[in-house]
This record gives sequence, structure tokens and C-alpha cells, in this order.
Amino acid sequence: MGGIFAGVSRKNSNVIPVVIEGLKRLRFKGYDSTGFALVEDGVLNVYKDVGWVDLVVEKLGIDKHSSSIVLGHTRYATHGRPTTENSHPFVDCRQRIAVAGDGSIGNYEKLKDRVLMGGHKLQSRSDFEIPAHLIEEILEGDEDPIHAAERVLEELEGIYSLTLLERDTASIIAFSNSLNLYIGVSDDAFYLTNTLTSLYGLAERYIPIEPLEIALVTRDSLKIFHKGVELPSKPPQVLRVDPAHIEKGGYPHHMLREIYEVPFSLLRSLYTLQEKYLQLASRLILGADDVYIIANGTSLHAGMVASYYLSELVGISPIVVSAAEFPLYYVENTGPGSLIIAISQSGETGDVLSSLYEAKLRGATILGLTNYIGSRLARLSNVYLPIAAGPELAVPATKTFTSTLLLLYLLSLSASKDSGKIDPAIYTQKIKAIKDAAYQLNESVPRLDEEAKKAVNLVKRCRGGYVVSRGITYPIALEAALKLKEASYFHAEGVEAGEFKHGPFVLVEEGFFTGFVMPVEKLSAEATYPLIQSAIDAGAFVVAFGFEGDEKLSQTQGTKYAVIRIPATERHLAPIAYALPLQLFAYRLGVELGRPIDTPRYLTKAVLR
Ligand code: F6R
Repeated sequence: MGGIFAGVSRKNSNVIPVVIEGLKRLRFKGYDSTGFALVEDGVLNVYKDVGWVDLVVEKLGIDKHSSSIVLGHTRYATHGRPTTENSHPFVDCRQRIAVAGDGSIGNYEKLKDRVLMGGHKLQSRSDFEIPAHLIEEILEGDEDPIHAAERVLEELEGIYSLTLLERDTASIIAFSNSLNLYIGVSDDAFYLTNTLTSLYGLAERYIPIEPLEIALVTRDSLKIFHKGVELPSKPPQVLRVDPAHIEKGGYPHHMLREIYEVPFSLLRSLYTLQEKYLQLASRLILGADDVYIIANGTSLHAGMVASYYLSELVGISPIVVSAAEFPLYYVENTGPGSLIIAISQSGETGDVLSSLYEAKLRGATILGLTNYIGSRLARLSNVYLPIAAGPELAVPATKTFTSTLLLLYLLSLSASKDSGKIDPAIYTQKIKAIKDAAYQLNESVPRLDEEAKKAVNLVKRCRGGYVVSRGITYPIALEAALKLKEASYFHAEGVEAGEFKHGPFVLVEEGFFTGFVMPVEKLSAEATYPLIQSAIDAGAFVVAFGFEGDEKLSQTQGTKYAVIRIPATERHLAPIAYALPLQLFAYRLGVELGRPIDTPRYLTKAVLR
């Protein structure tokens, strides 16, 4: 995936400087590598390398070139490590088309085999090289690039947007099946981008390209097609962007943008994960004598949820332990039959890496889960799986957490299927339920945000509090408490609901916050309603997070009581569905309390030691 910024001059002048400026605004879309496709003297040339825009521009002297048509890209690696070959744009075998994309192509493996059988030479391990060759093939028999785009749009699965530069017609063609794309319109040039805010100051007006539409932009014209028919021209809209928010894609904080991206990140993670790697990993789990899950912070909470999944779906009880504790008391017991599932979104956390060195010395197998496939964790792992949530720039982890939960769920489902505990039809149903839940969440985010805003008004004067839950959502209570600390400097502890009356309850009184994440196991839920009532009776500010349709939560009354209603989903997906509103709640409290949300003090994105 990544950031796309392309330009076509309307006056035959050089657009490279504007494309460089546009790309610099797309850091949150990807920063592993940068690439440019240009037409110079009728020849399509691609210049690309590993590194952020500034570095690559300087290293390759991009600003010394001149071209009136340019396709630029910044990459976040999902298929294939961050290397020069895997950087976008990709060209076809005849160097006629350059392609850059965002998202993930779900049927990559199948299409790759077809392209190879067709005699094409692949130069990368990226899913986005495939459409370059598919279009090449279609263009051989039919000279119309719009027909080629239509056929490819029909063929590609997953969630993606594609922008391509066609040398012979000097045109940029762009389309997507679900992601955003915009054409920036200025007197001097047309631009194409997947982030509206990147156009600020470069184009005064813009036209959105709707999913399944195909835009064709040349020096003299701008056309949009749908199902082969050219649409009446759309009037460009005036671009209004708050310049303070350009680098954050129009949001006031990266954290908010990343929470809003959660549903799409879930889908991307789902489509990125290839079945064969999931099966490989599930075989490691099923074949292991003992399984340890190690991680820190938010990733450790994801690991805790995984122990519920593995226990129920596979019948395996892994030992889940902080990577800081693992070398002290656990690593001694590992050996060639041990499997260590190491989770680290950054892939660079010091305690995780040093634990792995020790476990490897003892012959253990490492299954790494990371959001950065160029990270040291990926390199140390025998097998690694990409979290594929997209780049996360806010220090408090949000979308990487939900995508990690999803990955762990998929892994457990796959192991469950491979061990014969669930049959393939159920597996397929569960995958469908994930997609449904992601779409449902996506629709609910603005409402959940409004409810979170209202609820924090109750809570902002509290001196601290608890987040209480039980069962598979208990780690979500721990995670919510961590988010409240990081994003809002609000002291909160996660409490297991069954333990609530064994001590923690003594602090519950006026001026104290108690959040309840409604358990999804029937008996645990029944036991939680009376706890909610006790906290209300004790004078606490109470916020209950529960599924829509939970009548008992709605019937509960209190002037210092609020409910946040989450779209109901399957029990195993509850940790994911609950995480998003709890993240919004922590974010909104941080805003109310004026905290430096994206960069909490003393905390860095990867804690090296
Ligand atoms: C939470 C957070 C930290 C990290 C922890 C592990 O918002 O930022 O608690 O989760 O430092 O980081 P990774 O997953 O990169 O190993």
C-alpha cells in the first residue's frame, strides 16, 4: 500500500517538483520506499529506492530530471520486503505502462501464477506488479487502455486503488474498487492522489473519483468512465483544507485518523494475509510441544486475547508472558519443540528481540507477527506474518492492535480448521462475519465518536478509575486502561469483573470513573449488571460499553451513567469491535484534557530498551 501522487502538465512543463511536494504529504500512507515513473523523450523511465522521499530524491537526483507526466509513490510494505525491486511503480515487460497502488490485491497468488504462465517476467514480490502485466496482455489485443482498465478492475479482488501511467497516450489512468482517489485541477496541471489534503496549495479544485469509476487524464482532457460509458463531466469542487492538518490527512491528530482507519485496516489485513502462510503458521502451532506468546504493552494484550482463541478453537493453552519476563523464568524451559509467537507491531521492541535471541539459541521456532516486514523481528523469525494495518504514526497503538487481534483470530481459525475442530464451511462463514463486522464498524465510527465525546464530559473531572470486564474482553479492559494512560494521562486500571468485589470496589465512590466492557459470555454478562448497579449506587461516573440491543444496559438509570452502543457481532470478534470505541473514548478524553495525544511524554513508537 502507499501514497500516490501523479501529475500531468497542461502546458507541457515539468511537474516533478509538484509531485515531490505532494508525496511528502503522504508519510502516513507509507515511508519504506519512494518511486517515480516519468516519460523522458518518449521513454518510460522508473527511478525508485528504499527510503523516504527526501532521501530518494537526493540519492537519485530526481529533481534534476524534467517530465510533464509523472507518477509518484511512497510505499508501506505488505507483500514483499522494503527493497528497491518491491518499490512502486512497476512496469510491464515492454516498459509501456507504470503502475502504483494502494491497498492490497486479494487474489495475488492466483493471478501471479497466471501471469508467470503467460511468460511474463516478474521483477518483484509485490502484488501491484501483477496489474502491470495484466494490462500489458490486454493492450496487445486491444489498443484501448480504458478497456484494459475495466477488465483489470473486474478481475482484481481485495481492496485497492491503482494509478497507471501509459507511455504512448501520455495519460494517467486511475481507478479503485473501494478506496479514495481524487483529481486535483489547477490551471497548470491535473494531479491524481489518494489523499485529498495532499492537494493543498497545489490545486484549487478537485474531483473525487468514485469506486468503480475510471479516470483518464491527459494534457488536454479529463474524462471519467463507468462500465465503459463516459460520464457527463463532473464540476470540480473547491478544495478546503485546514493547513494545520495536511500532514495528518485532514485530522487533528494521527491517533484519530488511525482509529477511523481501523475498519479498512482490518480488511487490508484480511486481504493481505495469504492462505499458504497462515497454514504454515498453523502447522507450527499444531506441531509444537509447547507454545509461548511473548510481547509488550498493547501487543501483549493482543496476545492475551489469542490465548482465549487458541484455547477454545484449537484446544491449546499457550503461556502468554511479557517479553520482559520471558528471559527471567521461561526461556530456560524452551527447546527444539517450542514455538514462540512473538508479537510486535514495530518489530523492534528490545525485550522481544532479546528474548528471541535466547529462545533461538535453545532451538525454539519463532513465529513473528509484525506490522513492519523489514523489521528485525521479521528477520529473526522462522516464519512471520504481516499485521498489514498500514503505517501507524501516533505513538498510542490503535489500528495495529485491532489488526493484530484479527491476525491472531485468523491464525486460530486456521489451526482449528487444520486440526479438524471446525469444518471448512464454518471457516468460510467466519471469514464473512469478519468482513461484515468491518463494514458495520465503518458505518458506526462517527456515531461512536459522538457518544465517546458525550461520555468523556462525565468523566473528565474524575481523578482516575477502572475499566472492568471478563472473559475474552478482559484484555480489552487492560488495553483501554493503557490507552487512557497514554492518550489522556488519566490513571485507570483494568479489572477482571470476577475480581471486582475482591478489593478494587473499595475505591469506587463519587469522583471515580468505572467503565464496564460488557462481557460476551452469557453468564459473565449476567454477573456484570449487578456490578454496574453497585458502581452507580456508590456514586461513581459509569460508562458501559455494550452491544446494541442490550436492553438491560439501556434500562439501567443514573445521572452519571452513559452507554456506548457497539454494533453486535460474533463473540470472537467482540475484542475487535470493543477496542475501537474504547480507543475513541481515550482519545476524546485526551482532547478534553489537552494532552499531547500523538506523542505522550517518555514513550516512543518502539521501546528499544
Ligand atoms: C501502546 C504502546 C506500547 C507498545 C509496546 C510494544 O500504545 O504504544 O505499549 O504496544 O511498546 O510495542 P511493539 O508492539 O512495537 O512491540
